[in-house]
Amino acid sequence: MKTVVVDHPLVRHKLGKLRDIQTDPVHFRQIAGEVASLLAYEATRDLPTEPITVQTWAGPLAVEHVRGEALTLVPILRAGLGFLPGVQALLPAAPVSVIGLRRNETTHRPEGYYQRLADRMDERIALLIDPMLATGGSAIAAIAMLKQAGCRRIKCLFLVAAPEGLAALEAAHPDIEVFVAAIDERLDENAYIRPGLGDAGDRLFGTPVD
Ligand code: PRP
Ligand code: URA
Repeated sequence: MKTVVVDHPLVRHKLGKLRDIQTDPVHFRQIAGEVASLLAYEATRDLPTEPITVQTWAGPLAVEHVRGEALTLVPILRAGLGFLPGVQALLPAAPVSVIGLRRNETTHRPEGYYQRLADRMDERIALLIDPMLATGGSAIAAIAMLKQAGCRRIKCLFLVAAPEGLAALEAAHPDIEVFVAAIDERLDENAYIRPGLGDAGDRLFGTPVD
């Protein structure tokens, strides 16, 4: 599994702000979106381009064009929605596929509740987006859904990953690519990432910790 830690001063700076418990949901969403854009920039470095001709002031010119329609952005509900605008800022034409998964806080296993994918998934590069990779269960289940729909090229964007989640993801889906802002120390006894960000969904959407 190709794993890229986007180790950039701006990413480290913004991640520090996200870790700060004083950062309120308004700023958390804004900064998470900015990091999402930076992760998406790295994840799309090898996107294919196609030649098109445009009319410039000096006549016709061959230029490169990225077909946003050849991708699909796949937020895992709910926290992945907080990442979506930052990725859409770079890829506004990419259709959005939505996967609803909620981790059972007793078993720590993901429970699916929604799936609405774009058409022609076998022709698209999927960018799976979720701020947190903890046990890896949610991402593993989401990727299985994408593969079931025919998707062959999958890139995952996470803010923070636990080493345990990355190992589980690699064992289940060695063919995918991962772009992450930080790999943290470990999971705690509640399968939360330490130091992590706390509950990303609650911090993005201002709901109380459940
Ligand atoms: C969080 C997070 C991931 C998942 C990670 O979502 O956004 O989807 O947990 O945990 P895992 O790697 O152990 O599966 P959660 O299930 O809390 O739902 P929410 O986004 O609705 O808050
Ligand atoms: N979900 C979160 O939001 N945070 C964690 O640390 C683990 C799962």
